[in-house]
Amino acid sequence: MSSGARAKSVHTEPAAIVIFGASGDLTQRKLGPALHSLACEGLLPPQSRVLGVARTPLSDAEFRSRIYAGVIEYARHKPGSGMCELWPRFSDRHSYLWGDYSDPDTYRRLAEKLAQLDAEFDLGGNRLFYLATPPLLYPLIIEQLGRAGLNRTDRGWTRIIIEKPFGHDLSSAQQLNAQVHTVFDESQVYRIDHYLGKDTVQNILTFRFANAIFEPLWNRNYVDHVQITVAENVGVEHRAQYYDQAGVLRDMFQNHLLQLLALTTMEPPSALDAWALRNEKVKVLQAVRPISLHDSVRGQYQGYRDEPGVAPDSQTATYAALKLYIDNWRWQGIPFYLRSGKALASKVTEVIVQFKRPPHEMFHLPPGQEFTPNIISLGIQPDEGIHLKFQAKVPGSATEIRQVDMEFHYRDSFSLEKLPDAYERLLLDTIQGDASLFTRSDEIEWAWRLIDPIVQGWEAPDAPPLFFYEPGSWGPAAADELIARDGRFWRRGCTRHKADLPI
Ligand code: BG6
Repeated sequence: MSSGARAKSVHTEPAAIVIFGASGDLTQRKLGPALHSLACEGLLPPQSRVLGVARTPLSDAEFRSRIYAGVIEYARHKPGSGMCELWPRFSDRHSYLWGDYSDPDTYRRLAEKLAQLDAEFDLGGNRLFYLATPPLLYPLIIEQLGRAGLNRTDRGWTRIIIEKPFGHDLSSAQQLNAQVHTVFDESQVYRIDHYLGKDTVQNILTFRFANAIFEPLWNRNYVDHVQITVAENVGVEHRAQYYDQAGVLRDMFQNHLLQLLALTTMEPPSALDAWALRNEKVKVLQAVRPISLHDSVRGQYQGYRDEPGVAPDSQTATYAALKLYIDNWRWQGIPFYLRSGKALASKVTEVIVQFKRPPHEMFHLPPGQEFTPNIISLGIQPDEGIHLKFQAKVPGSATEIRQVDMEFHYRDSFSLEKLPDAYERLLLDTIQGDASLFTRSDEIEWAWRLIDPIVQGWEAPDAPPLFFYEPGSWGPAAADELIARDGRFWRRGCTRHKADLPI
């Protein structure tokens, strides 16, 4: 897996970066700003060119001003912010090709333009295609790229990034994989899960495997249970059309939550290369026991049905909580509680590993307080850091103890205003040919295998009830009951300078 230091030391070749869906939101909010920040840090060779392709008629100048607006609003390094004075030069690297995705002529013109850019800027034949269109168009664009012979070059490399969602169930993901493989070799394919581009997510493996003290405890002998929370405070925003079809299981669990689970539970790979790493993730996903419907809770925030674009009788879940088990040597019998939802009390993503109680308890707690076991809380966002909670003796008392917190925060330890955006990492890794942070075809299919039965169970006539919850709450009470059945409760372990808040 990559690190900032590695990124700088690996030679990055210039390339033509072709974005399909270039007039859309993702390009403006994420891709333009990410490329700009990479350029500012000297990580994108100056010859590299960005070619936007989309159905909206735009001139080069209009495309550039859209990119500019996105960079000004969202980029980590803004033009003229001391570090980065290169806006005019960066802007000049962009051009736009307007065309219909189903028309072979679009791809003929694309091939011509690529040949011209290649010759003019000495790009070595390197091409990166980024599919940032609605997913329905992926098969069409892939097929047309193949027909136009754009899936390979005589020299240099050709790679393709495919945005999520990759399929909407196992069978559509398998079909899409099969179609992709008729045109591209798996080694050319980079399927995005932007959570893998987050530094804090990559740090899960660093924390586990670059330290000798945690890993010996990271198993069923010492761990009581694990909680993974990905809570969002925003509602469905302007994406109701997509979201009402997808729901939280497809939108968040199949990808982000299962990736967090895999990184937290996988065995150490023999090396941090894409093949070894993804083998281990696949192995642990294969070991997840089919999830019982009885261990699932579905919720919908009140007011969701009034959002523009949502069906008035929508049964779509905007919240889910699941309990699952991993049937392998390391994790047998240990419950994993996963939850995610929209319109919740706050935005927080964290992995909490709660350890077992000491076998013999000799100390006393202040009256009214319960014993809190050791907890490691991996804060993914927004409080990026790690907390270790342990018991300390209350000064002056003989045997009284209290839970205290040992904290690490990125911004303090690395003096960072802001961590690099996930898309910076992912774009750079693709250009450098490192697929470690991208999901492999079998991995994506295993994730669907786990999620499909719950999706189907929730759509069946005897589906478990859909619980409504108040926006700004922590989801339906049934999710608290799911974990309370086992004598546990959801924790929030990474709130800065605060002790555990049972929620
Ligand atoms: C996306 C989902 O994959 O992740 C969105 O489609 C969600 O619904 C988003 O809001 C959350 O990402 P982040 O990086 O803000 O946690």
